[in-house]
Amino acid sequence: MSIYDKVGSTYDSMRSNIGIKDILNVVDILGKEIKVLDLGCGTGHPIAKVVSPIVKEYIGVDKSQPMLDAYSKNVKDGEYMLLNMTDIGQIPGKWEFIFSWGAICHLPIKQQKKVMKHVSKLLKPEGRFLFTGGKEIDECTGKIGEYTVNHYSIGEKAYKEFLSELNMDLISASFSEGNNYVYVFKKKKICT
Ligand SMILES: C[S@@+](CC[C@H](N)C(=O)[O-])C[C@H]1O[C@@H](n2cnc3c(N)ncnc32)[C@H](O)[C@@H]1O
Repeated sequence: MSIYDKVGSTYDSMRSNIGIKDILNVVDILGKEIKVLDLGCGTGHPIAKVVSPIVKEYIGVDKSQPMLDAYSKNVKDGEYMLLNMTDIGQIPGKWEFIFSWGAICHLPIKQQKKVMKHVSKLLKPEGRFLFTGGKEIDECTGKIGEYTVNHYSIGEKAYKEFLSELNMDLISASFSEGNNYVYVFKKKKICT
């Protein structure tokens, strides 16, 4: 059982509104006729609640059933998948916007890279990939209520290089609300 299986719906009382602004900034750029994948969507509070009703398609992906149980209550008519994000290669279709707020950073680097390879394949040309992660190379712990969680980062330079090899260009990387370091990448428009 993962920590998030134990946290479940109690997560909402610990979660502020941080993140909505950064996600909506990208939606503003792409327009609302977009398909959005939310990796590690948690309970859907507050991001999916606000963003899913205003875009064409929105799917939350999480590996914790208790978090998704809360998601289904929080997000009216919300679509979600019980899936480890390392396995998103099995999701069909192409997506304009894929993001992971406070989630991909929990994965060890090898797994983060596996997810990012899938993201590159799932993104449409000029689609965006946003995630929160460390600015520097780091391995540290954080707290979710009484529980300790791990965070892993290869740092900005290495994320930029790795994702460039996957045809994604770094658009911005900066500290945002709640001291989150927010990366936004854009999938290259490939000429054929
Ligand atoms: C800190 S919570 C963030 C939830 C949500 N993104 C938010 O902004 O509130 C991290 C979430 O990532 C999920 N998660 C962690 N590792 C995962 C993985 N490998 N695949 C899918 N979900 C994962 C956890 O179950 C949890 O719901």
